[in-house]
Amino acid sequence: MDNKRKILIDTDPGIDDGCAILCALADESLDVLGILCVAGNKSLPVVTPNALRLVDFENRDIPVCKGSACKLKEIGLNIVQENEGVEFHGADGMGGSGLEYTDRCLSDVKAWDFMLEKIKQYPDEIDLITLGPLTNVALAIQKDLETMKHLRSITIMGGSFERKGNTTDYAEYNIWFDAEAAEIVVNELADYVDMTFVGLDGTHSCVLSFDEVAFLGFEGGRRGELIQRILKLYMENYWFKDGILGAVIHDLFTVLCLTHPEVIEEEKMVRCQLQTDPEHYGQTKAVEGKPNVRAIMKINHRKLTRAWLKTIMKDKQELVDQVFPEA
Ligand code: BDR
Ligand code: CA
Repeated sequence: MDNKRKILIDTDPGIDDGCAILCALADESLDVLGILCVAGNKSLPVVTPNALRLVDFENRDIPVCKGSACKLKEIGLNIVQENEGVEFHGADGMGGSGLEYTDRCLSDVKAWDFMLEKIKQYPDEIDLITLGPLTNVALAIQKDLETMKHLRSITIMGGSFERKGNTTDYAEYNIWFDAEAAEIVVNELADYVDMTFVGLDGTHSCVLSFDEVAFLGFEGGRRGELIQRILKLYMENYWFKDGILGAVIHDLFTVLCLTHPEVIEEEKMVRCQLQTDPEHYGQTKAVEGKPNVRAIMKINHRKLTRAWLKTIMKDKQELVDQVFPEA
């Protein structure tokens, strides 16, 4: 257990969050210390059960904590996110997974407190992965910045430096949802903790194909079958809403950029400045000055496919080599 990489996952599951969590749970080199939920794709009462479903499905004892039910600037105003969320992910937020859940792993510790507790327990050893809005992380920073400086790294699914946004022309969804939180995270932490943005520049450079997903469904056992099932709606939406044939599984790619750095084909060090004015709200802008974050610009499709399949299908390494050889 001790030489495993310790990670915390902050998330708003979410179909692609679901794929990311399943991949992290299948990866034997990881010690997932906790799954921290935040409002984003759907409301907190919808995304939290999705995290619980996945730990039950995997039969793991991993604490699931509730975090913020609204954006930073709405705290105290009695505004909580309704469940309309993003239709991309279906009414249940996870592509109609149909999975049962229990409160077995539900912790009564708030997400930001859990984050701080774990960092105090393992200073400079934890890699934080964020797959949703950055509200919980900003709240942890506001509570105890000095402790947050003792994260080993933070890998953020969010932003877009050179590509058009997916929510507005300038903004990617996670950052757009709570740009003030993202601003706090970058401004307070980037000078102290290795910070990587896996934004749309990187994620859209890799579109997984139907045959790759089908292969996982055929050969990946119950985990593969679940992933294929929840991706069905996701891939339909990509085609009918965005004209993309295949799956850009943002949050999964983010986990794999951390755990399998060979999938990264191009990266840049940039100085990131969050934009919060109405027109550019949520834009991650690269500005002049000392670089403070790493931005992933390109992902290698074949390497990512192999890393993903080999993580999920531990017992079928040779089959993966045969069907998807190194390019
Ligand atoms: C991000 O937004 C969410 O809808 C996805 O889960 C992903 O984290 C992509 O912009
Ligand atoms: Ca997400």
